[in-house]
Amino acid sequence: MRRGWRWCVAVGAVAVLGAGCTGGDDEGRFRVGAADVGDPYVPGAGNGGYDVAHYALKVRYEPPGRRLTGQATVTATATTGLSRFHLDLAGLTVDRVRVDGAPAKHRRDGNELVVTPAHGLPAGKRFTVEVAYGGVPQPLPSGELGDGGFHATGDGAIALGQPESASTWYPVNDHPSDKATYEIEVTVPDGLAALSNGVPKGQSSRDGWTTWRWSEGSPTASYLTTLVIGNYRVSTGTHAGKPLVTAVAATLPANGPAATALARTGEIADYLASLFGPYPFDAYGGIAVADERIRYALETQTRPVYGPGFFRGDRPNTEVVAHELAHQWFGDSVSLARWSDIWLNEGFATYAEWLWNEHDGGRAVAQVFADRYAATDWTKPSVDPGRAALFGDAVYQRGALAVHALRRAVGDEVFFRILRGWLAERRDGTVTTADFVSHAERVAGRPLRPLFDAWLVGATAPALP
Ligand code: TRP
Ligand code: ZN
Repeated sequence: MRRGWRWCVAVGAVAVLGAGCTGGDDEGRFRVGAADVGDPYVPGAGNGGYDVAHYALKVRYEPPGRRLTGQATVTATATTGLSRFHLDLAGLTVDRVRVDGAPAKHRRDGNELVVTPAHGLPAGKRFTVEVAYGGVPQPLPSGELGDGGFHATGDGAIALGQPESASTWYPVNDHPSDKATYEIEVTVPDGLAALSNGVPKGQSSRDGWTTWRWSEGSPTASYLTTLVIGNYRVSTGTHAGKPLVTAVAATLPANGPAATALARTGEIADYLASLFGPYPFDAYGGIAVADERIRYALETQTRPVYGPGFFRGDRPNTEVVAHELAHQWFGDSVSLARWSDIWLNEGFATYAEWLWNEHDGGRAVAQVFADRYAATDWTKPSVDPGRAALFGDAVYQRGALAVHALRRAVGDEVFFRILRGWLAERRDGTVTTADFVSHAERVAGRPLRPLFDAWLVGATAPALP
């Protein structure tokens, strides 16, 4: 899903803004859609030649055999004439592919599913791809970043990971630059929970199997989808008129730190909304898992997943909740066009931790800023940190320092106006660092590029604004 004129520029087909983006030139000329979106941080991820609007997924999972059977219906629009196109799919066996209801040829090439429809797809054409598939899903080795993807657990499974994970359980254009809406149906043995993103659409049971239905109506980046199956204490309520679903692994204590921290989800989201503007989605929630392989929390849309390491002490860790909820605005609603700009997610989410902590009676933001400023290695850049440093201090801490430096430079009133305007104007979109810098300059009415250069990429400690 791409919005507005940026899309026309992205496909490079039309020079004049506002002119028709599709049809015309490419009509009748078919070529092979790119096997890769061209993001050097994630070679092979994403594809070219189409833009997905919606995924309708039906998956069934049998924990004893670790087998997943799936039916995916992908609704997309061709952005160029296509004779053939790729989807990302890691492992699994494809039984059948249909394009617009007609059988299509398909083959596998590593983690790609290559589909050749019976007829070429003209540029601008809306089409559906139905894929029937199955197998034993696996994690996706991401080298130094740890494994993302599908983790079978003793009682079920956890599909989770950044920068990639989705292709381990469904065919996908696996890059945040192509966000789409989702409907996810998960069928599991009776008694197990099956959690995913968005609004709960009910459960039904038949012949020993229960189907859980979820609907995410806001554009979602594929790495922000999740599937969590197993024995969980699920609590379904509402917050601010929207469904709030939290789930805590049954092996974690019922009133322990994980449950206590997650119970503050609504309160923390409201605090963040008072700073950033309205909560961007139709549902709230969180999932605390017990599997030790999940060494992170991830801001999966509407329902972050928290690894067990965050809740070891007896004091509930609400900072991590503030961090993942802040991502609902920074990262989920306003998303990355490319991974090299990840500080736009992590710098703001880390800064939100500082703000929440101060609000919640913890250390003052000014103090955290001073300490981090003194401890920072300025030789490492926040922007384009390199793949191995995607989750490093230069992204999280230096990124947060840059956010506070902006606040010091322009003052509180303008600072929060910059943030709220950015989130409102770019809602559901994908962005770059340059977009943020020009937005900030426009709202502040003064040049800010030198400030961002110094705080984000300069090799020496910047002067305090
Ligand atoms: N983006 C996550 C956060 O900041 C952290 C994270 C880094 C992560 N690498 C990951 C989560 C791999 C899951 C998998 O909250
Ligand atoms: Zn984060």
